[in-house]
Order: sequence, then C-alpha cells, then structure tokens
Amino acid sequence: MENITTDRLLLRPWEDSDVDFVYDLYSRWVVQRFIGQEPRVMESRSEAVERVERFKAINHPIHGIWAVTGKDDGRLLGTLLLKPIPESGEEPMVASQDVEIGWHFHPDQWGNGYASEAANAVLEHAFLSGLPRVVAVTNPANESSQSVCRRIGMAEKGLTEKYYNSTCELFVLENPATS
Ligand SMILES: CC(C)(COP(=O)(O)OP(=O)(O)OC[C@H]1O[C@@H](n2cnc3c(N)ncnc32)[C@H](O)[C@@H]1OP(=O)(O)O)[C@@H](O)C(=O)NCCC(=O)NCCS
Repeated sequence: MENITTDRLLLRPWEDSDVDFVYDLYSRWVVQRFIGQEPRVMESRSEAVERVERFKAINHPIHGIWAVTGKDDGRLLGTLLLKPIPESGEEPMVASQDVEIGWHFHPDQWGNGYASEAANAVLEHAFLSGLPRVVAVTNPANESSQSVCRRIGMAEKGLTEKYYNSTCELFVLENPATS
C-alpha cells in the first residue's frame, strides 16, 4: 500500500501507535451510527488493537485502508478505505468484484473538506491503477456521506440491496480512461 499525499494530507499505513486514535474515533456514536447493519460503538481498547491489526493486514498494490493525517503536523484525522465490497448473501458475506471507497473522520475534523480531499486522491490512485469503476454505499439517512460522494463526482444510482445485506444508497464513478 503506497503513501498518498495531497495539498493538506498524508495518507499512510496504520501503525500500532494509532490505537488510541482508532478507539477514540470508533467509540463515538456520531461516527458509528450509519455504519453496518446494526451500528454499535467500539467498547474496549482491545477492539481498537484488533481493528488496527485488520487495517494493517491489507497488503495490496491497489486496495488499502489508510490513516489520513495532516501533512504538516502528522495529526490523525480519519480513515480512508478502498477495498472489495461485501456482497449480500449468507453470512459471512463474501467480497464482490466491485471495489468500494469509504471514509470515517473524527468529528473534530468535519467541515474542512478533508474527507473529500482524501477521497479524490484515492480515486485518482484507483483509476491510475486501472480499476474500471469505484462504488460507494451509504445508509440512506447519511446525508454528510452522500454529500462527499457528490462532491467527488460520483453518480447517484438510488437504493440497492446488493451489498452488506442492507438497503443502501449507491454511488458509482466510472474510470474516465476505460469507460
Ligand atoms: C461523512 C464524513 C466523512 C463527512 O465529513 P465532512 O467533513 O462533512 O466532509 P468533507 O471533507 O467533504 O467536508 C465538507 C465540508 O467542509 C467544508 N469545507 C471547509 N473547507 C473546505 C475546503 N478547503 N475544501 C472543501 N470543503 C471545505 C465544506 O463547505 C463542507 O461543509 P458543510 O458540510 O457545512 O457543507 C463525516 O461526516 C464522517 O466521518 N461521518 C461518520 C462516518 C460515516 O458516516 N462515514 C460514511 C459511511 S458511508
């Protein structure tokens, strides 16, 4: 997984020393409320340790789960992911052929354009790497996340039940080089 830089951000692999931030981020209801079929907050630091291990385990030339940090000061801001999306079906769901982009930012960092800036850079990386398209799904009530999808140019496709065994709002962006 390669580092990605933008004007204000450095996207880098997760490190063991990021556990406290991960716990702070995912133990908040405002962050978790629209994530998953049955949203729940992280309840122990050991869950954060496991989460960082899972983030680090993705070792792939294109896919990744990046720690988004300030380029100048290194402070942690959130998570940006690019990975195969689970297809609805019997649990445990299996990954589909489609690749999703997603974002989870600390509430103290909302309203600065960081999620959109990081997502734009990851889309560019995805398309330069040859992915034909990238999808994003949100809880139908998650207007902030839908705004990010629109801001980065994704096309709204309406509700779908194709992924995550849930009803989601689907956004798609085709690779301009291959579509
Ligand atoms: C979804 C989420 C990442 C959106 O964060 P965000 O900060 O609103 O998104 P952006 O990075 O696109 O920032 C846009 C906002 O920054 C403002 N902004 C300020 N400076 C800016 C700049 N330089 N460039 C762009 N926008 C800027 C925009 O005006 C906009 O503000 P508004 O929401 O008042 O209209 C955030 O709400 C979140 O982490 N939620 C919890 C997790 C979650 O639900 N994830 C999605 C699961 S599908």
